[in-house]
Amino acid sequence: MEFNQQILAAIVNELGREDLILSRAPGRINLIGEHTDYNQGLVFPAAINKYFYFGIKPNGSSYVNAKALDLNEVCSIDLNDMSKTGMLWADYLVGVLLQFKQRGVALKGFDCALSSEVPVGSGMSSSAALDCGFIVGLNKLYDANLDNWEIVQLSSASNNQFLGIKSGILDQFASVFGKPDHAMMMNCANHKFEYAPIDQSEYSWLLINTCVKHSHLTSGYNDRVDECLRGLESLKVKFPDISSISDIKNVNDLDDVHFENQRIRDRVSYIIEENTRVITFEKALKESDVDACGQLLYQSHDGLSNKYEVSCNELDFLVALFEDDPSVKGSRMMGGGFGGCTINLVKTKEISMVQEKAKEAYLEKFGIQPEFYALKISDGAGLVFDE
Ligand code: GLA
Repeated sequence: MEFNQQILAAIVNELGREDLILSRAPGRINLIGEHTDYNQGLVFPAAINKYFYFGIKPNGSSYVNAKALDLNEVCSIDLNDMSKTGMLWADYLVGVLLQFKQRGVALKGFDCALSSEVPVGSGMSSSAALDCGFIVGLNKLYDANLDNWEIVQLSSASNNQFLGIKSGILDQFASVFGKPDHAMMMNCANHKFEYAPIDQSEYSWLLINTCVKHSHLTSGYNDRVDECLRGLESLKVKFPDISSISDIKNVNDLDDVHFENQRIRDRVSYIIEENTRVITFEKALKESDVDACGQLLYQSHDGLSNKYEVSCNELDFLVALFEDDPSVKGSRMMGGGFGGCTINLVKTKEISMVQEKAKEAYLEKFGIQPEFYALKISDGAGLVFDE
């Protein structure tokens, strides 16, 4: 296991070595299966070699004194009176602490330093990495014995209840269960999952960051969750026994369903089609059929852009740029949308050429320098041990 020695040194420098708990959790990519998680559908993520690190050290008080080393910001949290702090990163900590409290853990004070390699707002889920890294550290500090799924659920409850983000469990699942060189296809309805080997020698997964974040990042997300719930209500008139959109497997079943409007119908049919794409993708991946995998990525993007409407001009531009380019087998926006990265299945030998092309075209069109990440698929969250 490789740890970021520079970050560890900075944390040790801040807190000292004695009694220090070190933990970390990774960001994630998602190969396919977008916006399906909160609809109890299928996802296909992997953990990446970019981590959020935490140092935690008991201080004998009833306060948490936290320092975000990258931002050079500090926050003191009174464990007997926890509320919003005015700083987003610190609110994530408070949300998690409140969840430990709700689970009957007697909270004790500590000093804490945090630092991250996961780019914020890129769709690689720095927030789940923050949450899960922190929870793993607290799990040790408080001897709470949470298992992996409890870590996922604790973070998700904090997001939903304290931060008001109605997100599903895709990000936390990937961050906690990740394994080197493997992606994971998971059914969010029953949490069953399988590891799928990912070999990047011939074809690689390349992220291209649009470096834009549109303001409806959070509001648009929660709107989609609400629209899906409204779609589900309409579906239930015809199919009273279903509990989620993902219980419907065939878009033809929507034909005589009365939806509020075309928009809701589109949201629902996107989810059903995306679930089908995940299944087809898994099969194509097993058969090393890169052409089929790539086509499914383009189809996924088309659905996300036109039916689910969570893309933006910058993402659409980068995807379209490669549609007829044999170096890129497939491309789509990744994560919540409204900015962030595209994920691309690229001939490994041609990565630098693809990067050059994207850089030139994107810069000319939007005046922005895109960023590139050729990532390793890595371990999930855990404690950091001295080597
Ligand atoms: C964000 C959310 C996830 C998931 C994705 C879209 O990353 O946090 O729960 O819904 O968007 O697939």
